[in-house]
Amino acid sequence: MGIALILLAAGQGTRMNSDLPKVLHRVAGAPLIVHALAAGASLAPERRIVVAGTGAAEVAAAARAFDEGVEVVIQDRQLGTGHAVAQALPALAGFRGRVVVLYGDTPFIRPETLAALVAHKADVTVLGFRPRDPGRYGRLVTRGAALERIVEWKDATEEERAIDLCNSGVLACDADLLADLVSGLTNDNAALEYYLTDIVAAARARGLAAGVVTCPEDETLGVNSRAELARAEAAFQARARAALLDDGVTLVAPETVFLAFDTVIGRDSTIGPHVVFGPGVTVESGAEILAFSHLEGCHVGAGARVGPFARLRPGTELGEGAHVGNFVEVKNAVLGDGVKANHLTYLGDAEVGAGTNIGAGTITCNYDGVMKHRTVIGRAAFIGSDTMLVAPVRIGDRAMTASGAVITGDVPDGALAIARAAQVNRPGLAVRLMDRLREQKARRVKDAAGQDTAGQVGLRKDEA
Ligand code: UD1
Ligand code: MG
Repeated sequence: MGIALILLAAGQGTRMNSDLPKVLHRVAGAPLIVHALAAGASLAPERRIVVAGTGAAEVAAAARAFDEGVEVVIQDRQLGTGHAVAQALPALAGFRGRVVVLYGDTPFIRPETLAALVAHKADVTVLGFRPRDPGRYGRLVTRGAALERIVEWKDATEEERAIDLCNSGVLACDADLLADLVSGLTNDNAALEYYLTDIVAAARARGLAAGVVTCPEDETLGVNSRAELARAEAAFQARARAALLDDGVTLVAPETVFLAFDTVIGRDSTIGPHVVFGPGVTVESGAEILAFSHLEGCHVGAGARVGPFARLRPGTELGEGAHVGNFVEVKNAVLGDGVKANHLTYLGDAEVGAGTNIGAGTITCNYDGVMKHRTVIGRAAFIGSDTMLVAPVRIGDRAMTASGAVITGDVPDGALAIARAAQVNRPGLAVRLMDRLREQKARRVKDAAGQDTAGQVGLRKDEA
């Protein structure tokens, strides 16, 4: 039987105190709504419907950036979760499968939990959990294994509030029945809202079966405030680090490594302390990322070494065994196997052939103030320290540039390019100049205002 997801994401998120719609706040580099869609994607749903309200255009764009097939319906006024689901149902007219309702601000439901929810045999199945502090969650009123109804905290009696089994908000129900039950909802309650939760009692009143599947509290962690966002981030990081350790990756100081939702790191890689992974990073096995490095949108080949203090920006590809050392920044650049750029370098919009050595202080001058230009360096080349490569420029295979060169024209294969002022040595001048300076300092006099009245001492015309 096919599955359709309805993802509720119209709420304002008032407690975030933000201009950004709540579901667009990020955990591990991805908007909350993307986490929720990714969790739902594990069910391979035929239809994915997002109910948007606040900031609908941005919410729709973020959802579609993750999944082009997402359908977006608008809920103009937030009249409750039941009303929100009602907005999505016309889009599902004719759909005969099971509908799973998820919240856009609840990013951590595990695929196994969703699978258990849809496998459960009841007309309506609700995902419940037992939080340490049940607070103001809706309470699940059960009789034996059967679910009788859900009571919202606002409407609950003291006795009902004492129930520790709470509603996560996630539920599953056949499309036809859901449409039928939702059409009967009223807003006759403490919040004057159309509660989706009321469909349970409505189903029971018709003699239908309702049941509960439970999951650990950390999966139902919702984000309603910046503090909860920070907690969600911490929870994500803890899980992602633990998963990497299980996968055979060494994290020297796990609690200092920050991972993105899509970070992939191969077996037997080592990650040093204080390394930050932005979105889109893949590290092949046996690589070493040393302390204080920052990576995003890049691919690090097997056995490569990065850092300490390196920055790999989007579009960086490091070949096998490449070395990128301290204070090196690489952007939109492909470095072949065994390339070494070990110190104080910027490589942007560049291609560097296998086995090439990039000397300290090399800079690809890729930007002319208006446009970006490419630097192409061949294989087994040697770029001398402090070379400025003024792009567009091409350096041949096995070519060399002299230290301090400012390279503005192409260098053929095997050529040595020297592009700097010729050196002049003035015999004895260093000593004479130093003596003169010391003399000047000894004679130094200050006027009343404390200004130095002595003149500059420099090279004489005939010495320059
Ligand atoms: C809801 C449940 C409660 C449950 C809790 C779990 C109802 C009536 N109550 O309460 O039993 O314990 O979630 O977190 O369902 N939304 C819309 N449109 C609306 C209203 C809400 O899209 O008109 C979205 C929100 O953006 C949010 C989700 O639905 O993603 C839940 O809404 P929220 O107002 O947080 O419901 P709670 O009062 O927390
Ligand atoms: Mg809520």
